[in-house]
Amino acid sequence: MLNFSILVDGALVDSDEKISVMNPTTNTVAGTLPLFEPKALVDTALAAANEAYIDWKVTSPKERIDLLLKVKELFLQHQEELADILVLEIAKSKKDSLTEIVRTCEYIDATIESYNEIMANPLIIDENTHHIKGKTGIFSREPLGVVVAIAPFNYPFNLLMAKLAPALVAGNTVVYKPASQGSLIGARVSQLFHEAGFPKGVVNCVVGSGRSIGDLLVEDGRVAMISFTGSDTVGLRIAEKAKGIPLVLEMGGKDPAIVMEDANLELAANEIIKGGFSYNGQRCTAIKRVFVHKSVHDELVKLLVEKVQKLSVGLPQDNAFITPLISNKAADFVQGLVDDAIAEGAVCLTEMKRERNLMWPMLVDQVTVDMDLAWEEPFGPVIPVITYDDLTICVENVNASKYGLQASVFTEDMVKAEEVANLIEAGTVNINRSSSRGPDIFPFSGVKNSGLGVQGIKDALISMTRVKGIVFNK
Ligand code: G3P
Repeated sequence: MLNFSILVDGALVDSDEKISVMNPTTNTVAGTLPLFEPKALVDTALAAANEAYIDWKVTSPKERIDLLLKVKELFLQHQEELADILVLEIAKSKKDSLTEIVRTCEYIDATIESYNEIMANPLIIDENTHHIKGKTGIFSREPLGVVVAIAPFNYPFNLLMAKLAPALVAGNTVVYKPASQGSLIGARVSQLFHEAGFPKGVVNCVVGSGRSIGDLLVEDGRVAMISFTGSDTVGLRIAEKAKGIPLVLEMGGKDPAIVMEDANLELAANEIIKGGFSYNGQRCTAIKRVFVHKSVHDELVKLLVEKVQKLSVGLPQDNAFITPLISNKAADFVQGLVDDAIAEGAVCLTEMKRERNLMWPMLVDQVTVDMDLAWEEPFGPVIPVITYDDLTICVENVNASKYGLQASVFTEDMVKAEEVANLIEAGTVNINRSSSRGPDIFPFSGVKNSGLGVQGIKDALISMTRVKGIVFNK
């Protein structure tokens, strides 16, 4: 069993009292972490980050970049171990866990590249670029201060580092809180930051329940910025509590795929399967509802059923495509949505099988907008299919969701595709592909309950810095 200390105020700290992290595959304890009194822990971490900021913000970019590259090298050296932790605590397949580690290391490189680009090119406004005479304004970006990063369970390494890398390279210090399941990797990451030689207090990891730690973190006056990924319930609560603190929130979605009458159905079916069932649908950007034109419904559904039946179901360490959900409670929620939809007339076209939190992938047809399954985010392996006749009504239903993260439109007609994309209220609309955050250089944002602010490599840097102008006068 794993037992990790955490990095706070320059030291790896442990305690006799422990927090247990469950293994969703075996329903046994995967590892333990130190349990501290929440107020004292948060106070120590924030005080340390606040103090460290004074020196860290004036270190040379080269020093900060070298340290980030060093920790990235450690991540690469430990990639097998880190991936195994993901397998253990979030039941992500070994293959996808390794992909997460490698993708994140590439993300760090790209963040450094973007930082150099942004910092090397401050905005210069002078007589040559504007009509104002006798003034040269140089506008560059400076850090904000202490950044609080709160990461989710589904990408506990990637979405943590997607917050930490831009914050640190830009000269901010950080206090981060991993999701409860995701804390083992979070703690291990903090140890590697320590090993890389980050100065005391620049990186601090706090663990504990969201309720006890989260509120204390987001309400503290020493915090300069909050970057959060998780549910809209928690995100909106943070927005309420963090009065005036700049926020970037990513809070989930109910991403639709619209399959139009002229779509390439084989392509659409492959993308829907990938988009709906990767990591068991436990992705904000998963396809969570399919709107199919009635003329192609039967053919699409036939293809989808064939493909669902081919998905392997089993253990993350065996690289099964479908693995156990994060908890039995999560599986109960999915089950409830599907059962209710069936009771109201929907039909599950695939085998409904469940072993505790391991759920076989479900394709639920004849779903209507009267059913919760059409609106709620299941975060599980279920794709509801809604048939449409009138595209205008379909788009109205797409936009009636409280979420607006991403969407997919499948059609061979690019003019129509763009027209529909412009009508959809979402951060990004993907033509003939499933929803996805990547490539990571793309801006990533959501509307309504899906998010606030923009992520993605460049935009994360922008959100964690502010413009500083120096104006020279003749
Ligand atoms: O759920 C987290 C969200 O950021 C999804 O990322 O890369 O699976 O599209 P991705």
